[in-house]
Amino acid sequence: MTTASAPGKIILFGEHAVVYGRPAIAVPVALIRVTVEVTDLPQGHAGVRIRSQMVAVDADLDELDLQHPLAFAVSQIFAAIEVDDAAVRIDIDSTIPMASGLGSGAAVTVALARALGEHFQRPISPERQSRIAFQVDRLHHGTPSGIDNTVIALEQPIYFVKGEDPLAFRVAVEVPLVIADSGHPSPTSESVGLVRERWLEDRPAYEDMFDAIAHVVDAARQHLEQGDIGALGPAMNANHRLLQRLGVSTPELDTLIASARAAGADGAKLSGGGLGGNIIALAADGDTAGLANVLRRAGAVNTIETRLRP
Ligand code: PMV
Repeated sequence: MTTASAPGKIILFGEHAVVYGRPAIAVPVALIRVTVEVTDLPQGHAGVRIRSQMVAVDADLDELDLQHPLAFAVSQIFAAIEVDDAAVRIDIDSTIPMASGLGSGAAVTVALARALGEHFQRPISPERQSRIAFQVDRLHHGTPSGIDNTVIALEQPIYFVKGEDPLAFRVAVEVPLVIADSGHPSPTSESVGLVRERWLEDRPAYEDMFDAIAHVVDAARQHLEQGDIGALGPAMNANHRLLQRLGVSTPELDTLIASARAAGADGAKLSGGGLGGNIIALAADGDTAGLANVLRRAGAVNTIETRLRP
């Protein structure tokens, strides 16, 4: 049996503008993961059995529609490692909430690529894992920027510009964060579609907002690399104000953010596509548990405490 896993992710800065060629920063969240187990079938059995409670699948690969995300991912991976007569069972488990901007889709593909590559002794490089996950995301989300697959496959903080080589970088200080789920689904294709409509209506205004976001992202990267945690919270707040102007925040997200700030968080913003999904808040004093409590009392249905470490 072979086991492998891949982490979740959050976007720290730059969502949406990244679709329009501006930079964004995303980081892996190691505590939440997709785990994949690959087991050889007993003698005399052939084919590939896929089981995943998370998406209620227990089927032979052949039975699934080729457009099914798991079938598509597994077929792409088998093609990449040039395996065409496997006799295995694949079990997929996840602690990453689905459809909430935490990268569960890309993490499934990356964990599958790692587990199958290892099982068949044809390890797949992180860059290739990332490319396969991008193809799968593209099938289902239309025009992803590529940031999810990149940060999850490389498992490092990433400064990302679409079409350029991703830049992995180190943070110089511990950054204690709370991720809080509004409980409303976050349909990335909807929020990306909304921004596109508005951009088409008023390109100059939207290009200006994207430039302003890019400015915040570049400053934030410096703060992270120089360990200037005091400047990070205000940068998060500035990024959130711009996301509000883009039109992707909601009263629920704004309430969570206001509660975090009222409780002493140094900064807070929505993370990911918006219109629902998660916010992130910075607890520079390190008390993520206290901040998580406040956020749950303010209506968050789930919180995750995470720390970026130097
Ligand atoms: O909701 P998430 O975390 O999948 O993030 C979407 C991020 C966007 O910038 C809005 C879209 C993208 O493809 O980068």
